[in-house]
Amino acid sequence: MNSDLPRIPSHVAIIMDGNGRWARKRMLNRVKGHERGTETVRTIVRASREVGIPFLTLYAFSTENWSRPRAEVMTLMSLLKRFLNNERAEMMENDIRLNAIGDIGRLPEDVRSTLSKTLEMTADNKGLHLTLSLSYGSRSEIVHMVRQIAEKAASGMLDPQEITEKTVSDHLYTRHMPDPDLLIRTSGEMRISNFLLWQIAYSELFITETLWPDFNRDEYLDILSAYGRRDRRFGKVAETS
Ligand code: FPP
Repeated sequence: MNSDLPRIPSHVAIIMDGNGRWARKRMLNRVKGHERGTETVRTIVRASREVGIPFLTLYAFSTENWSRPRAEVMTLMSLLKRFLNNERAEMMENDIRLNAIGDIGRLPEDVRSTLSKTLEMTADNKGLHLTLSLSYGSRSEIVHMVRQIAEKAASGMLDPQEITEKTVSDHLYTRHMPDPDLLIRTSGEMRISNFLLWQIAYSELFITETLWPDFNRDEYLDILSAYGRRDRRFGKVAETS
């Protein structure tokens, strides 16, 4: 636990962007950017565990990312598989529980089985809940949630008049975690890109110009510290006014 931080967020969500630009700036293939980006994932997971953040969710692969050139998609899948295989031991050592959200069935069979193995092995860990968003799109998650609620209503299991915000939250992939307190996006784009649209209603947003492969522990800690100084009002007035 890091006592220097004024307030630790319960849940940090990150849109990891800029791997391609990082590589282009160095006249390298985009693959190199994704490889360096994977190193940053390691650094940020470690730092999160160290400061005692309970939930970390990373946007690793979106539904839209399937439209990238086949070679790039294959590279991302093999990096993901390698990451899962290489990090399993450290996840066990550091009490990290892996979770995955998204249309997991679309992932290649070998990635799915590596993922299942890691999910099962880490299922009893409690220190940090690390969620990878894989083949994830928030609108598609919302459609999935609406279908489930509609089916329950149609079969008489649920009275439509009793549907609340909690009912909606309880039917999303993220039902077992709190909403993100903090959403970080790297590489300066001012958009949400179909990530956790319902869940980030009151999240604090931090957008940094730094490209994901250059994002590091110090900048992460600075953002966590700045988050602690923000006045979160959830639509109400400040307590002192
Ligand atoms: C954005 O860079 C990033 C991604 C498409 C996904 C993030 C993937 C990684 C960090 C590597 C693998 C992940 C794990 C969990 C091992 P971009 O290609 O969109 O960059 P650009 O906008 O500069 O082109």
